[in-house]
Amino acid sequence: MASSTWFITGTSTGFGRELTEQLLRRGDTVAATLRTPARLDDLAAEHGDRLWIRTLDVTDAAAVRRVVDEAFADLGRVDVVISNAGFGVFGAAEEMTDEQIHRQIATNLLGSVQLARAVTPHFRAQGGGRLLQVSSMGGHVAYPGLSLYHLTKWGIEGFFEAYAQEVERFGIRTTLIEPGMAGTGFYGAGEQRRAPALAVYEGTELTPWLRGTGVSEGDMPGDLPKMAEAMIRIAESDDPPRRQLLGSDAYTLVRDTLTERLRALDDQRDLALSTDRDGLRREPA
Ligand SMILES: NC(=O)c1ccc[n+]([C@@H]2O[C@H](COP(=O)([O-])OP(=O)(O)OC[C@H]3O[C@@H](n4cnc5c(N)ncnc54)[C@H](OP(=O)(O)O)[C@@H]3O)[C@@H](O)[C@H]2O)c1
Repeated sequence: MASSTWFITGTSTGFGRELTEQLLRRGDTVAATLRTPARLDDLAAEHGDRLWIRTLDVTDAAAVRRVVDEAFADLGRVDVVISNAGFGVFGAAEEMTDEQIHRQIATNLLGSVQLARAVTPHFRAQGGGRLLQVSSMGGHVAYPGLSLYHLTKWGIEGFFEAYAQEVERFGIRTTLIEPGMAGTGFYGAGEQRRAPALAVYEGTELTPWLRGTGVSEGDMPGDLPKMAEAMIRIAESDDPPRRQLLGSDAYTLVRDTLTERLRALDDQRDLALSTDRDGLRREPA
């Protein structure tokens, strides 16, 4: 296959960095964006000609548009955009600061929405493109301690459900990538990632989940290189799926959750149907 050009957000660590390394190794061109460009100095030294780097904080919508415009102008064409930048803030909803809530939504949800919007006219002009949105198994299931993170991932899933239908006619294909747990910077500590603890939530069975210590890295099934490789394969497939889970934890947990939700849905049937106006009933398929 001819080499391709990729645009990726959040390339300093984790999935973004792994994707960038794999793509450069196989001879592709990567427009890598990140908040601290010096973190790619080693890759720039090795692959300078095929690595286009720009500073980008995805919470700055004007900067997202400017950097996307620049990438398409400089590189001529971008085949695949991977919207990857994101993080999770751990804590009970009540414990989170207003600033943490704002940053969580501004980064994972609004940053991803603005990236998709910025890319759309360019993809349309070049006759199509692939957009991978890194969501999470946490876009289907939810755990205590990550309420705001789930808000962003469930939110971006809803956005892409609608957006995909709007843009497929232009040859734009989207996939929500829904990884399970993998050892990246995601579980690292840091002021932005941990809400200030309230005593009332200490010493309960939920406490490890609220503090982000419920699972150790050794128990996370996700293999970072294999997951990145799968993302690349999906982006290049002839008929990419709208959603793709990655990891046995993701598959099992989402399957169990959806099965239970379908069962609960069926239990609601009679009451749901009973509230129609007479003569306007839509029968389930
Ligand atoms: N690891 C998992 O178990 C897991 C599971 C499901 C989904 N995910 C998703 O995978 C994606 C990547 O996370 P990761 O696991 O690879 O974690 P990671 O190693 O912490 O990487 C996160 C990346 O996002 C960047 N980022 C954070 N806020 C940003 C902002 N405002 N603007 C631009 N970049 C920003 C970080 O940059 P800095 O270095 O500047 O902070 C970093 O490059 C996220 O969307 C996450 O929700 C992860």
